[in-house]
Amino acid sequence: MTILAIESSCDETSAAVLRDGRILSNVVATQAIHRKYGGVVPELASRAHQQHIVPVVAQSLADAGLAQQDLTAIAFTRGPGLLGALLVGTSFAKAMALGLGIQLIDVHHMQAHVLAHFIEKPHPVFPFLCLTVSGGHTQIVRVNDYLEMEIIGQTQDDAVGEAFDKAAKLLELPYPGGPLIDKHAETGNPHRFALPDVEMPGYDYSFSGFKTAFLYFLRNEKARNPNFMAENLNDICASLQFALVRILLKKLKKAAQDTGIREIAIAGGVSANRGLRDTLAKEGTERGWNVYIPKFEYCTDNAAMIAMAAYYKALRGDFADQSVSAMPRMDW
Ligand code: KG4
Ligand code: ZN
Repeated sequence: MTILAIESSCDETSAAVLRDGRILSNVVATQAIHRKYGGVVPELASRAHQQHIVPVVAQSLADAGLAQQDLTAIAFTRGPGLLGALLVGTSFAKAMALGLGIQLIDVHHMQAHVLAHFIEKPHPVFPFLCLTVSGGHTQIVRVNDYLEMEIIGQTQDDAVGEAFDKAAKLLELPYPGGPLIDKHAETGNPHRFALPDVEMPGYDYSFSGFKTAFLYFLRNEKARNPNFMAENLNDICASLQFALVRILLKKLKKAAQDTGIREIAIAGGVSANRGLRDTLAKEGTERGWNVYIPKFEYCTDNAAMIAMAAYYKALRGDFADQSVSAMPRMDW
């Protein structure tokens, strides 16, 4: 089985090739155009996908040392994501599958983030808990099998990635701010400023109140010292990251304790965060968890994870037909 997978749900155009469960190539073109707008502009994302998709697919085949004729299926991200962005990948995949007369596989983007854990070994053992954290989602997923997942907790408003990015914007850092907060936090003092936790029922999260609290914190400090941000940037970033990681882990620890599951994974763009990775590794050692943290390249959006999810769908004989359409909001 040789699958070409395409990811175009947000601002990364990516293509990967998988053969018999092994990733042979993974090409990612990040769209720099959104930087000057401080966030992803959906229409510009669609246009950039259109520009990138042909060279990115060609490069992924070249890197794998294969030709189009070697493919047995084309996979694509059906949703969730930006409609115009998803449409580029969906239309491209459908046309290519039709042209080559091969199978089509539609993939759920968030399930693919979880299945990124099966790209390389060691693999988590079922059932495992996966904290899936990205620009659009914050979920605790109970993963019973490759394609049997259950969301046991999630954010009721903003995603944690959005909280990172919005906080970065308030700190006048360019988009996407998450990785920059991470970088500045490295040399900052995480205990310098106390930021609030938000009480939510069960395993759910909320980050909109946190964002507002951070806004007022900066406003108050700046009123006292106009240079507050510039003078304390690293400590602010470290304290912010510390607070967000603490919120994330509190519910994950509760879920692990209640379910008795000790196989614990993280996935999604925010799982690239150093603070989250290090804290989780430490908690894991203390609590006797087996912790799974993806390689950096498989945390943020990439087509290798789409290929992996497609592989498990193909093993089940779960294929799409030409009537399939992009789905910006998609249930599990
Ligand atoms: O999974 P992803 O690439 O795209 C979505 O599906 O949303 O996640 C992107 C999110 C952005 O909010 C970005 O700021 C955040 O992941 N992110 C990080 C880091 N790297 C990416 N947040 C904190 N620290 C990082 N190192
Ligand atoms: Zn994603």
